[in-house]
Amino acid sequence: MPIGFIFDLDGVITDTAEYHYRGWKRLADEEGIPFTREDNEQLRGVSRRESLRRLLKGRQIDEAVAEEWMARKNNYYREFLESITPQELLPGVRDFLDAATEAGIKLGIASASRNAKPVIERLQVGPYFDVIGDGYSVVNTKPAADLFVWVAGGLGINTADCVVFEDAEAGVAAALRAGMRVVGIGPEERVGEAHLICGGLHTLAVDQVLALQ
Ligand code: BG6
Ligand code: MG
Repeated sequence: MPIGFIFDLDGVITDTAEYHYRGWKRLADEEGIPFTREDNEQLRGVSRRESLRRLLKGRQIDEAVAEEWMARKNNYYREFLESITPQELLPGVRDFLDAATEAGIKLGIASASRNAKPVIERLQVGPYFDVIGDGYSVVNTKPAADLFVWVAGGLGINTADCVVFEDAEAGVAAALRAGMRVVGIGPEERVGEAHLICGGLHTLAVDQVLALQ
């Protein structure tokens, strides 16, 4: 039976969470909004608009202002992306992708980010993936199941035969809703709902993941 592995990007393939944090932090400082690294954890895996909503913590702003703030943060984030190289792949990623490809597994990306494609290009890992789902692919992003279902459809693999690799609570929830097995990357309090929890792809073997099916 064909199997698909679907990877989140930020926090699984590369660690762009720090750049998202610095982008939001600069905007928050400019606008006098308190924002800490701890607050940033709540933004992991959710869309740009939902990130802004969480950053505002109930403060009300006009739609035009919201648009300008999101664009400004994105410009700051894009500046960081300029410096990304294949060196920024997290430990073990390339070996894991090689091993999965060797095993005949179809690979896809499911990222809430509208910057996913340029990031993948800069990391030079595009050829591994048959399908790249990003922040433009579906209307309802994580924690809705839609993006994972969209990627599974593109891979031509049943959702029940896909395994997701996720570092965010919203992403784990989305994958479970899609009826997929989930490998959670990160601490128990964040990805505790996953079927298998680990510290990163460098600690995982493909067989171990296949055994989840
Ligand atoms: C996710 C990140 O991958 O993409 C979130 O984990 C981010 O932190 C989201 O908010 C949206 O990213 P972008 O690049 O479209 O602003
Ligand atoms: Mg992530």
